[in-house]
Parts: sequence; C-alpha cells; structure tokens
Amino acid sequence: MAVMDQQRMVERLNDLIALDHDAVGAYEAAINRIEVEALRMSLREFQNDHLRHIQDLSRVVLGLGGTPRQKPDVKGFLLKGFTAITSMMGNEAALKAMQGNEKLTNRTYEQALKESWTEEVRTIIERNFRDEQRHLAFIENSLRMRSWEQPGAQV
Ligand SMILES: [Fe+2]
Repeated sequence: MAVMDQQRMVERLNDLIALDHDAVGAYEAAINRIEVEALRMSLREFQNDHLRHIQDLSRVVLGLGGTPRQKPDVKGFLLKGFTAITSMMGNEAALKAMQGNEKLTNRTYEQALKESWTEEVRTIIERNFRDEQRHLAFIENSLRMRSWEQPGAQV
C-alpha cells in the first residue's frame, strides 16, 4: 500500500494533536478533583505523556511542511474536560470521566494506525498508542480496586 500523501498525513496528525491537547486539559481538571496524592501523581505522569505526544507529533508535522495544531477552541473539545469534570465530582466520578476519555483516545490511536504511514511516523504513533493503553489499564484498575478507599490513600 502506498504511503498517503503529505497533506493528508498532516491533517491526520493534527487530529491526534488536537485530541492530545484535549487530554492535557481533561487531566488538569481531573487532577484538581482527586484527593489522593498517589493517584494525582500517576495522572500527572499521564498528562506529561500527552504533552510529549504533542511535541513529537508537532515535530513530524513541521517536518512535513505543515502547521501543528495549537490548543483547540472550546467548541473543538472532544473529551470531557473542564466543563464536564466539575467541582461536584469526587474521586470516582473524576476517574470515570477519564476512563471515558481514555477509551476515546485509545480508539482514535488504534484507528490512526490503520492508515499507511511512513515507518518513522508509525513508530511514533505506536509508541503513543502504547501510552494510551497503559493509561486506560491503570484507570480501569484503579476503579476496580477503588484505590482511593484503600487504607492510607487519603495522604
Ligand atoms: Fe492517555
């Protein structure tokens, strides 16, 4: 299969960048809702992964002669971010919102891998997808274990 043309590649990469921007905002909202320090630290790491995705994908877009997407406007939000993760939410509700968000980022990265990328770009997208799988697995495990209720969690 032929590699897709550069303009299409830029567009698809910018879609991923927009989603990663959204994820950074959604994690910020969730971190502000969660009272357990250990959980907050993990979510902060995931947020940093999304920031790295933006950097890596933006570098590729620039290399293709494109313009990397900046922060999406409010209407462009795909994920449950600042608006949906409200101050009324506790640990569980905030984690559930992030579970929904991570399902969407996982689906989106999985879909993106069906496109015919150059090897170099595919390697980056695969690495990002592995991060997404790790994020979702962690959040689902936390929800299953109700990790915020474990002894010593409220530290
Ligand atoms: Fe993620």
